[in-house]
Amino acid sequence: MKKKIISALLSVAMVASLLAGCGGAAGTASTDAPAAADTEAEAPAAEADTEAEAPAAEADTEAEAPAAGGGQKVGVSMPTKDLQRWNQDGANMESELKAAGYEVDLQYASNDVQTQLSQVENMISGGCNVLVIAAIEGSSLGEALGMAKDAGIPVIAYDRLLMDSDAVSYYATFDNYKVGTVQGNYVKDALDLDNAEGPFNIEFTAGDPGDNNAGFFFNGAYDVLKPYIENGKLNVVSGQKTFEEVATPTWATETAQSRAENILSSYYADGTNVDVWLCSNDSTALGVENALAANYNGNYPIITSQDCYIKNTKNMIAGKQSMSVFKDTRTLASQVVKMVGQILSNQTVDVNDTETYNNNVITVPSFLCEPVFADANNYKEILIDSGYYTEDQLK
Ligand code: BGC
Repeated sequence: MKKKIISALLSVAMVASLLAGCGGAAGTASTDAPAAADTEAEAPAAEADTEAEAPAAEADTEAEAPAAGGGQKVGVSMPTKDLQRWNQDGANMESELKAAGYEVDLQYASNDVQTQLSQVENMISGGCNVLVIAAIEGSSLGEALGMAKDAGIPVIAYDRLLMDSDAVSYYATFDNYKVGTVQGNYVKDALDLDNAEGPFNIEFTAGDPGDNNAGFFFNGAYDVLKPYIENGKLNVVSGQKTFEEVATPTWATETAQSRAENILSSYYADGTNVDVWLCSNDSTALGVENALAANYNGNYPIITSQDCYIKNTKNMIAGKQSMSVFKDTRTLASQVVKMVGQILSNQTVDVNDTETYNNNVITVPSFLCEPVFADANNYKEILIDSGYYTEDQLK
């Protein structure tokens, strides 16, 4: 019953935030438009297709770019094709930018920092007027960013903040801390931590230390759960509860899986139940879900996540993952296309956060989109009815 009430409340919140979309109070900032130039885009590098079934969810709305592209070129640098979301992000950006009249140089970097560095450098020498970058490792593109700044090319950090550089003009992302608090609050409510006696056993799996988002996700969740860890209602059986201890380099499923296997064999092989596995995202949750399937016979734990990848959504429907946080890549792409248009036409750029995202050198004016709670009760509404997936894709 309680679960139903929580789910109903969350659905209301979800619909409200869907309606609000990326909207928010717009702040002000502006950037100079650089000179145009023209070269052929390089073919994207071939990559492993571990998420081959991933759809390229196309944007279903026309870009709101205030000015027509007029042949200006936008470089879009994505980290990898190995994870579903970046394929969708890239495809959405490309189709929206093209619809707005821009030339697009879209590159995927196979999760290899050097590859991304040289791709971005090629975008600069190839005459891109704006760069949109989702970094593999936030701090490793300094050289290229410096070149962009010298060439007067504005840079938008896409989803992940670009660190340690004053050459970052804007940042567009989802409210990353909120993603974590949605996960933490889900656990708090599902276990009724304020009233239940407990103790409940919990483990954490977080993201890549090279990705600035990962700390925000973990801290958002941990801040909600910390009082219950401190008062003993939540027991971290492995004792691993700092971000450094629970992080997963490159967000790799296999790494999350082998760490979970180690934890299960070291601390749960005697029949101890794990009640919650707080996972930051889908690729890591999948690793934990695989480890549980092969190495655990106790009561199935609450598992949190984010992204709503197809495999994870199927697991959610099958009861192997409790919830997710949906970050509609169409919403983010639209916002960034709007930003690009505003930058290139010297208009005020919409931002709604000018305080949170300091990259160790500057605080980057940001636009934070709203993340949306998802579970087996509302996935149809937010994923299928909205056209993100077809029903068949989730079978
Ligand atoms: C994104 C997540 C994603 C993760 C791994 C993060 O930067 O915000 O949505 O799950 O990277 O790709």
